[in-house]
Order: sequence, then C-alpha cells, then structure tokens
Amino acid sequence: FLASLDLLEEEGFDPPAPNRTQDRLDDEIAPMPREFHNTPDTDPALAANREWARRILARVPESDLGTATIAEARIESEGALEEVVERVKTAGDAWGARSAEERAGFVRRAGYSLESNRDRLIEVMAAETGKTIDQADPEVSEAVDFARYYSLSALELDAVDGASFVPSSLTVVAPPWNFPVAIPAGGVLAALAAGSGVIIKPAPQARRSAAVMVEALWESGIPREVLALVDLDEDELGRRLMSDPRVDRLILTGSYDTAALFRSWRPDLPLLAETSGKNAVVVTPSADLDLAVSDIVKSAFGHAGQKCSAASLAILVGSVAESARFRRQLVDAVTSLRVGWPADATAQMGPVIEPPSGKLAEALTTLGPGERWLVEPRSLDESGRLWSPGVKEWVLPGTAFHLTEYFGPVLGLMRAETLEEALELQNTVQFGLTAGLQSLDAEEISAWLAGVEAGNVYVNRGITGAIVRRQPFGGWKRSSVGAGSKAGGPHYLAHLGSWVSDPGEP
Ligand code: SER
Repeated sequence: FLASLDLLEEEGFDPPAPNRTQDRLDDEIAPMPREFHNTPDTDPALAANREWARRILARVPESDLGTATIAEARIESEGALEEVVERVKTAGDAWGARSAEERAGFVRRAGYSLESNRDRLIEVMAAETGKTIDQADPEVSEAVDFARYYSLSALELDAVDGASFVPSSLTVVAPPWNFPVAIPAGGVLAALAAGSGVIIKPAPQARRSAAVMVEALWESGIPREVLALVDLDEDELGRRLMSDPRVDRLILTGSYDTAALFRSWRPDLPLLAETSGKNAVVVTPSADLDLAVSDIVKSAFGHAGQKCSAASLAILVGSVAESARFRRQLVDAVTSLRVGWPADATAQMGPVIEPPSGKLAEALTTLGPGERWLVEPRSLDESGRLWSPGVKEWVLPGTAFHLTEYFGPVLGLMRAETLEEALELQNTVQFGLTAGLQSLDAEEISAWLAGVEAGNVYVNRGITGAIVRRQPFGGWKRSSVGAGSKAGGPHYLAHLGSWVSDPGEP
C-alpha cells in the first residue's frame, strides 16, 4: 500500500489519509444524510496515516500555501472595500432567496471539500501559525463537523411554527489566529447556511490559513460573489468595514476589549462574539489524580496554552494541595512534554504565535506576591517563540495571575480548603468560558455543576476541544458579547437572521 502511495505521489497526486477514503466515497454518492455524525480525526495508530502525516510535515518549512489567494484578497483603498461590500450584499440577497435545501447542499459539499483538503489545511496551519499536527488534525475535523452540522441546522430554520426566518444580506466574520481554520470555517458556514452573504476578514497572523480554507469552499461550489475574503489593515479600513451600516451581522471571536471596541463603533449591529477566558480546573481529594494530571496538562499546554478555552489555573482542594504524588506527577508530565517546531512530528507543544510581550512576557518571566516556580519556563531558541511550559504556585486570590487571561504556556496553582472556596475562586474571575472539575464524588459534582459560572463545564475531562453538537461552545459573563448563542449548537443559526411572525398567526 505504501508503494502505491509513492506511485501516486510521483504522478503529482497527494494521497488522502487512507483510513478515511472509504467514508468519503460513500458519503459522496449517498443522498444528503439527515443525521449528524462527528468526523473522526486521522488515526495515528495506522502506519499509513503516519506516513501521510510525515509527507505533510516535510512540506511545512517551505510551504507557501494560501499566499497567492491572500495577495488577491488584499484591499488597499476605501473604493476597493466599497466595491466588495456592495457586491457581497447584493449577492447575499440572491443567496438568501434560495431554498434552505439548496443552501444546505452547498454547505454540505463544502464539508467534503474541507475533508479532502485536510492535508493542505494542516500544512498551512503548521507553517503559518506553528500549530502541531496533533492539534491541527482535530481542527480540520471540527471544520468539517461545522459544515455537516450547520447544513442540517439550515433545514430546521424553515420548520418553525408561526414565524419565518428572514436571512441577513451581509455578515462579516472576524476570526482569531489561534484556531485559524475551524473558527473561520464555523462562522462562514453558519452564515452561509443561514442565507447570508459573507465577508471574512482573517486575523493578520493567520491570513494564509483562512485563504486555504476559503479556497476549499470556493472549490466546492460556494460562489465567490457570496463569500469574499478581504485582507486589510485593521486600523482605518478595518474600522470602516466593522462600522459600515450595510453590514447586518458580525461574528467575532477575539478579546472582550475588541468586542467592546467594535460595539462602540456600531452599537446597533447585532453581534455574536465569543471572547476572552480565564479558566480553572478544580481538583478535589476524591479525584482520580492520574486523570487529573493528564487532563490539566493537555488543557493548559495544548497549542502552547493559546486557546480561549485553555486551563490557566488549577485549584487544588484540601489534601490535593499537599499531595506529593500529585505534584511529582504534574512536574514529570510538564517537564517531559516535547517542545518543538511543528515540522518535527514528535513535537507535543509548538511555538507561541510571536515572541511574548506585555502581560504574557510578564507571566512567563516574573512571579507575583508569594509565588514560586514549580517548573520555570524557558525560552528555548533564538526565535523567542519556543518556550518550555511553566507552572507557578501558589497564586493568591485577587492577584494578576488569578484574574488575567495570558494565552501562553503557563499554569498557576491555587489552593482552597473546600470545594465552595474553590468555586468562589473560579467564579470571581470576570470571564466565564470553560471550567473543569476533577472529582469522583457525586455530591461534589452536583454542587459544583450548580454553582459554577461558565458556558462550557467539564467533569473528569479536559476543558479544551469542544466537540460540535456534543459540547456547543460559548461563554457567560465577559466571555460572550451580544447574542450569547453557542457555536456548534442547536440555536446558533437562528441568531443569524431575523424572525417575523407569519401573517394570520397570533
Ligand atoms: N472550541 C475550542 C475549544 O473548545 C476553543 O475555541 O477548545
């Protein structure tokens, strides 16, 4: 089989990951399924998949995917921006007039296209943002899930009694750099499924990844008039786009401050914004400590901690704070993480997006009152981007580390006498995105679930990597601005248009 892969490659073909070829063929010839199933990640247990991954990673250092598309998308003048807004708005009206069935078909096909571009998407994310393949591969699965899920959600929009859904004409999608494929794909596909034209403006650090994602959507048949990619400077032209009265809706993922700024420019603009997080995992004495260590380490240091969902604090209750075994296992797990550039297939933690500055630099290099390093983070090479992970103890209530979002590979330990105290430390934070509990005690679990203030709460599981439909994703408090609807959940599309009562209905 590997020999036939080599043959394909010689002829200029990129073989797909072998464990999913059959799925795709079956799906393509079948009529549109009415049931949703999550897409599997590539299984690294299969030797052929590891070979497939090796080929992708070999291309990473030289990769220029997306470069040409993003150059074409560059907007330098108000006139050029004006032209795009007008064109997509008009095309969006025609798109919204198509039947939900038809739109659902387009979005479904976009999912096939994302799946068949899995290798290119992994390559560009690794090359552009430093994402390691173990993080990039599930991200492609999530993008495919969004396509499949929202295509089915589109059909449900037409089926509400007594009210009709009126699509928006123009939605702007402004994604972040940390999930450079899944988050932009989710926003774009949701808006398209809901009948809106879309302008996507990627984050500057992840513009090529967005470009390759958009190429896959165009390739699948989504018309270019309905989905435009724009790359523009964020100050002058960015502000113009975000405050343009012709924009009907904005889907933003970014910091709370960015959402507040955009809101001040155009207070009337309906906004779906998933914003900052400062997330904690509570560990009680009843917990399975092996599981707790493994879940905390994955949640804190996956993608070098650069997830709004990441664990930034672990709150150790009662005897856990004194447990020599817990500390030893945590230190061993953290210090044995292999840090490296994504072209190295064995890297478990990649670089941060740029050399740390500001509050992240401070969190990585200084200690707050009463804190000491359990594992001190170190800058590992000249680039300034590769850091070993750090753990500090004991973070005191009300200090900067307790309350600030950092977006980097540093975890703080806090202690609490009781579960109630731990909950209070967790809830004092002004954000409420994800939260975790490690406990095997049913009463503790119910008490915590009843008291915790976060959008995504996880018991005995890591707190990152929400799965479409199973864990719709979105926060409370300052982790959400505007319609607090959850991505990958049943009500998301309903917020992307207006509802009018049908004539004759009460
Ligand atoms: N949805 C991602 C996660 O759950 C964060 O955006 O980790």
